[in-house]
Amino acid sequence: MTAAKVILDCDPGQDDAVALLLALASPEDIDILGITTVAGNVPLGLTQRNARMICDIAKHVDTAVYAGCDRPLFREPTTAEHVHGETGVNGIDVFEPETPLRETHAVDYIVETLRAAEKDSITLVPTGPLTNIAAAFQRDPGVVEHVRRIVLMGGAMREGGNYTPSAEFNIYVDPEAADIVFNCGRPIIAFGLDVTHQVLTTRERLAAITALNNPVSEAVVGMLDFFDRFDAEKYSSEGAPLHDACTVMYLLRESLFESRHCNVAVETQSELTLGHTTVDFWHVSQRPRNVQWVHKVDADGFYQLLVERLSRYGDSQ
Ligand code: RIB
Ligand code: CA
Repeated sequence: MTAAKVILDCDPGQDDAVALLLALASPEDIDILGITTVAGNVPLGLTQRNARMICDIAKHVDTAVYAGCDRPLFREPTTAEHVHGETGVNGIDVFEPETPLRETHAVDYIVETLRAAEKDSITLVPTGPLTNIAAAFQRDPGVVEHVRRIVLMGGAMREGGNYTPSAEFNIYVDPEAADIVFNCGRPIIAFGLDVTHQVLTTRERLAAITALNNPVSEAVVGMLDFFDRFDAEKYSSEGAPLHDACTVMYLLRESLFESRHCNVAVETQSELTLGHTTVDFWHVSQRPRNVQWVHKVDADGFYQLLVERLSRYGDSQ
């Protein structure tokens, strides 16, 4: 099977960082065309720097990294330093990365890359607010048909919200962008909190990553040691959900996940429930099915494959 041509759009964030490291370790499955960054967990100046730091840590300094939108389409920025720390990747020391920041704006890069590609050929993997993706589709609606599928982290159904009682962070930050993306007409595979909260970084799983004893696994454990404290306290859970890594893991092994084709709609008007994702899991409305909503995962299989791919960094160091 040939590797999927992928643009990773992210707001690192420790869980975005693990998703990037998993993708960078899996060239037989994922051909990373570029990494685009967006304001989200922390401001854009930090998310783009963090993405480049991760490329350095992975020893992939030739990866094309772009900075995109520094604020949502219509709203003031919302950040999550309370979860990710002031750097966005607390748990590792920050440094000036060797991986360069490309001059092209991420939205221009996405538009140009899609326009130049064959139809139905590029996989978009957004793991932050959907501002860059929506802006690209608004800039040139003709590029949408060059998207093969969108594999995104965002939303929630039964799990409730993690930023407001009814909204998950990525969707809450830019609900208008999410509305544009969910209604773009291309295949969408969505990983909401209902499934991401099934892949917790338990002590046993962290120990397996620690045992790899390579520079990348060390960085991952450092980041997750910090990242899990917020969710562990909030949900009294053992560990933190590796939200964003679910998207990349799906590209490696779809069989780990179960999904259902549903209508998913985004609240963009109500102040009380802004950013809520209404998932019509039982198809009680007549709204068209637009999303494969992932609701189940083999968590042990997820971590076995994560450890196997992270172990590759020991071979290449
Ligand atoms: O709600 C979880 C999502 O918000 C993840 O993508 C995390 O990185 C933050 O961006
Ligand atoms: Ca993210």
